[in-house]
Amino acid sequence: MSNSAGALETDKQTWVRTADIINSEFATKPSISVIGLGYVGAVSVACFANLGFRMVGADVVQAKVDSISKGQSPIVEEGLGELLNDGVTRGLIHATTDVEAAVRETDITFLSVGTPTAADGGCDMTYVRAAAQAIGRAIKDKPGYHLVVMRCSVPPGTTMSVVVPEVEQASGKDLDTGFGVCFNPEFLREGVAVKDFYNPPKTVIGASSERAAAHLAGVYRLIDDKVLLCSITGAEMVKYIDNVWHAAKVTFANEVGRLCKAVEVDSHEVMNIFVEDTKLNLSPYYLKPGFAFGGSCLPKEVRAVEHLAQAYQIHTPLFDSLMRSNKLQIEEGLRMIRNFPGKRVGFLGVAFKCDTDDLRESPALELMAAMLEEDREFCAFDPNLQVEKSARSHFDYMRHARPHLAKLMDQLPEVLLPSIEQVVNNCDVLVVSHARDDYRDAVRMRPENIHVIDLVRLFPNRLDEATYHGISW
Ligand SMILES: NC(=O)c1ccc[n+]([C@@H]2O[C@H](COP(=O)([O-])OP(=O)(O)OC[C@H]3O[C@@H](n4cnc5c(N)ncnc54)[C@H](O)[C@@H]3O)[C@@H](O)[C@H]2O)c1
Repeated sequence: MSNSAGALETDKQTWVRTADIINSEFATKPSISVIGLGYVGAVSVACFANLGFRMVGADVVQAKVDSISKGQSPIVEEGLGELLNDGVTRGLIHATTDVEAAVRETDITFLSVGTPTAADGGCDMTYVRAAAQAIGRAIKDKPGYHLVVMRCSVPPGTTMSVVVPEVEQASGKDLDTGFGVCFNPEFLREGVAVKDFYNPPKTVIGASSERAAAHLAGVYRLIDDKVLLCSITGAEMVKYIDNVWHAAKVTFANEVGRLCKAVEVDSHEVMNIFVEDTKLNLSPYYLKPGFAFGGSCLPKEVRAVEHLAQAYQIHTPLFDSLMRSNKLQIEEGLRMIRNFPGKRVGFLGVAFKCDTDDLRESPALELMAAMLEEDREFCAFDPNLQVEKSARSHFDYMRHARPHLAKLMDQLPEVLLPSIEQVVNNCDVLVVSHARDDYRDAVRMRPENIHVIDLVRLFPNRLDEATYHGISW
């Protein structure tokens, strides 16, 4: 029996957008069973049948099965009734309460049972487990390879630690030889689910093997020939993070709205302009995990907006949480450094970001100030801080504006070394807070006993080295 989590190469964080993988061993359209005929399951049955797949829907609720069997929608969803009716008329849709029979007579099984909130706030796996056991019993004596496609929203790890063991135990078959497994999150929006099905925002497949990925990519070929392949756990997490992001956007907009109304500004005027900015506002920019924000604008303006809201007695808990969360990221960086007690620390990057000499609210300075407090030996390099030139005036400004950093400012001229090499030669732990090619080279070529704390994700893939430590990966 397997005990590994997500064996596919893509576990190494390298998802690829590819059409090449579509090389399914199913010569014709595979038949598909769908366990759980709720919003997700009913839409899948109707829409895949419309694309010519033979579909068998299975649910423990007789009324849902009856409804689908008659070509009627069990839910309110535009266009769904017509598609179901068409599929039943063409003989492509059947429904049953016999879950095992549905699995036995198909090539692929989509699992879309409910995953409600459990009593402890977690995810209730009762239905997932029951359905996985039924799949296992069904494929026990079924010849050939069967593909199980998990579509429920679940915590990362569930597919490999709950679904796969249940199927393996009930079937006596092994993952990848007896059956394959994919996690394929569903992104439909209720109300426009049919339209979303044919025009998905993305198609994500986390697979246990290339073979499993190829099967499922083949199924999606008619809708999306550029699927995003990733690890199973990555696909599970994407679904959660997408929804948290949507919730964050709604909450953000509503806090903007409450504040704008209080200060008598039209929130829609503001947000209509806000969404026009697809370079910085609605873009990948600022959306990759890394180190804390700093600089002359973000912290100052966040504090100003918090203050404004307080003055008008408007509650903005999302805005209020930003500085707290940012501080936690700095503390996380410190915690990582403190994992190496007594070791000499070298900082690559001092200013608040790359390509500037601006020290204002630089999070790297907070780390260095802590080193000073703790009497740790440390040094630093930043190509934009030439002590003899402009940096002196920055130090003076910082002494005045950030009194808690005054001691560090006094020390900085001695701490700053003139080259990356000198920092590397004088430290045991290298803390990198700017993503620059010369820092990447220094990390790659460092003596092997030097640990690296990467605060900026220097490389696309996580370095697989015992001495490399990423702050949030
Ligand atoms: N509703 C959405 O818009 C949406 C979107 C994306 C993902 N999801 C996720 O997809 C999953 C399904 O969501 P939903 O809204 O369709 O759920 P739902 O509650 O509407 O439907 C689940 C169905 O599963 C059936 N079921 C439960 N146990 C079963 C079993 N052992 N065998 C057969 N059928 C069984 C139930 O009777 C029910 O009809 C959830 O994990 C959900 O979080 C939902």
